[in-house]
Parts: sequence; C-alpha cells; structure tokens
Amino acid sequence: MTSGRHFLQIPGPTNVPDRVLRAISYPTIDHRGPEFADLGRAAIDGLKSVVRTESDVVIYPSSGTGAWEAALVNTLSPGDRVLMFETGHFGTLWAGVARDLGLDAELVPGDWRSGVDPEVVEEKLRADADQRIAAVAVVHNETSTGVTSRVPEIRAAMDRAGHPALLLVDTISSLGSVDYRHDEWGVDVTVGCSQKGLMLPPGLSFNAISAKALRASRSAGLRRAYWDWGPMLDANTGGYFPYTPATNLLFGLREAVAMLHEEGLDQVFARHRRHAEATRRAVSAWGLEVLCRVPSEHSPVLTAVLMPEGHDSDELRSTILGGFDISLGAGLGRLAGKVFRIGHLGHLNDPALLGTLGGVEAGMRIAKVPYRPGGVTVAAEYLADTAGEAG
Ligand SMILES: Cc1ncc(COP(=O)(O)O)c(C=O)c1O
Repeated sequence: MTSGRHFLQIPGPTNVPDRVLRAISYPTIDHRGPEFADLGRAAIDGLKSVVRTESDVVIYPSSGTGAWEAALVNTLSPGDRVLMFETGHFGTLWAGVARDLGLDAELVPGDWRSGVDPEVVEEKLRADADQRIAAVAVVHNETSTGVTSRVPEIRAAMDRAGHPALLLVDTISSLGSVDYRHDEWGVDVTVGCSQKGLMLPPGLSFNAISAKALRASRSAGLRRAYWDWGPMLDANTGGYFPYTPATNLLFGLREAVAMLHEEGLDQVFARHRRHAEATRRAVSAWGLEVLCRVPSEHSPVLTAVLMPEGHDSDELRSTILGGFDISLGAGLGRLAGKVFRIGHLGHLNDPALLGTLGGVEAGMRIAKVPYRPGGVTVAAEYLADTAGEAG
C-alpha cells in the first residue's frame, strides 16, 4: 500500500485533471437526443481550435492506431506509395499498418535519435519524377525517442520539390503540448488522440482533414467502413455521429479543451518547453545522456534517457515504481532496456516534475546506477530562475 497519488509520468496516457474526471462522470445522455447535438458540436469545434484548423475534424471512439488507419484508408488506393520515416518505434509501426492495408510503404531508415530530415523529403520527392508517391507520412513527436520533427520545414521541402503528395502527420503525443498548426502548415490529415496532451483517458482519436484530403477521399480506393469520413461528416453537420459515440469522453474533451484555453495554448506550449528544459538539465547534471541528438528537435513532451553501459532501464524503472510509486516509460522496440522515458506532458506543474526527478535520482541510488547527485537541484534552480515565465 502506498499513500498519496501515484505519479503517472509515462508519455501517455497522462494524468487526468479532476475537472475532466468530474465531467466524464456526468450521466450518459441519449446520443440521438437534442442535448447531444450541443455536446457533439462543442467537442468538434473545441478540437478544431486545438488543431488550429477551419476544416473538418472527425472523432472516433478508438485508440490512436485507429486514426492512423483512418488517415490512410480515406485518402489512398491499393498499391499507392507512401513515404514514411523510421524515426523510432511509432514511425515504424505506422509503416506496418500501411503495408497491412496493401500500400507500398517506403520506410526511410533512421537512427532513432533524430527526426525526419526535410532535405531527404525533398530529395525523395524530386527523384519521384512520375509522381508515384501519393503521401508523405510523418510522426510529429516520436514518443519512443523524445524527438520532435520539424513539420513546417518538411512542408517547405515538399513545396520546393513541387510534388502533389498529401502530407499526413501523427500528432498523437504532440497535440495540446507542442505548437501545431494544421491549416497554416499545410497539413492534409492530422492524426491525434485523447490520452496525451489533451489530458483525457484513452479512447478517442481524431483526423483533421484538409480540403485536398477530402477531395482525395472521393476517389481513394482502399476499402473502408467504420473509418469512412463520409458518413461521419454527414452526421457531424448536425452535431451527431453515425454510430454510438464515446459520449462521456466527449464530456471530458469539452472540459479539457476549456482548460487548455483558460491557460492559453501558447502558455501551455511554453510550460511544456520549460519542463523539458528542466528535465534535460537534470539529466546532464546526473552525467547521463539524452537520446535525442539534435538540439532543435528535443521533445517538449518527454525525455528519453540513455542508461549507462551494463545497466538495464527496466530494472531501474521497477525500482522507481516499487520505491516511489512513479511510473516511467519503458524503452520500446530496439531501445528496450536501453532507455527510460520521463513524460512531462499534460496536467503537470513544477512540484510534480521535481517529485518525478527526485524519484529518478533516488531510484538510481538504490539501483546502483552510476550518476552524479544533484540533478534535482539543478532542475529546481532552473525552475526558480524561470518561475512565472510559464507554468
Ligand atoms: C506517436 C504515436 N503514434 C501512435 C501511437 C499509437 O496510439 P495507440 O496506442 O493509442 O493506438 C502512439 C502511442 O503511444 C504514439 O505515441
């Protein structure tokens, strides 16, 4: 038995604010009744304001993987080539979904320590003289590595190449935590879900759809039923859904979006950057290495920390869980046992971050991981020196 709250510091699902939990606990209403239309519209409009789009947004009762599939089946035809990037575990998994659907996914190899290189995007598109590439699909924030790709630069590279491919972006772990602009950045389909920066439990996923993507959906040949944008958009015009929506999660979404706007999106993003910087300072004071090796791509959402040679990150995580009731993210895929991930996204404040870093530092002492003491002090000093700037 432990007392006090569990610290859920994985990079999603994240801590759900009490306000959101209370909203989710409202009695379920008739999803075809008059009261629902207001909720449906508020949820969709709220999401548009976070994705920063004037175009359509559809909401599915599903995990993020469903929204990956929806983005592909609504815009592409069997055998279409999709340019994808091995930024880490999730970039690789998305390419697997594309292949399973009968698409020709080209996975550009990566080192799992950096994001999508806009120059490579430009080269690949310029080399595609007969324009076989139908879409470029990138993960904005690679949750397995703590690397954030530069979407506006990728868009600019596509424009320089003068290539008509669609741009599909996975914002599953960035939305609501990292600056993101669907319309301004010329994204065709934004893929998102509930359980990370939006501070909701798992269970909702989204697609934001540009006019170009909507046109593409009319001739896209992949088979689709549940994920079809058409019936969803038709029903959404009245605030309804073509099948039973996750009503109580929509109550939560409306509340969570209200919270984000009360704080102010720019302030929310600044808070995440500041917490990420404090975390990286702690890591380097400990004498450990952050996995992301490109400073301009450091994730504001999570920090993946490389274990010293000969030490296993899962053992350290289990020591920290057992000793301090803090859950940290595991190394995924080829990073299993090699990194641990500190989630600093969503409903988080300075004392919660310091508590987390304190648990990591104390856990390293117990687990006899070689480190220099003092990382927490360095983080606290940084937070003190920047207090009031954000968060
Ligand atoms: C960047 C990214 N994409 C996709 C997914 C898959 O989402 P889900 O597990 O909700 O299906 C995740 C899950 O963590 C993710 O972080």
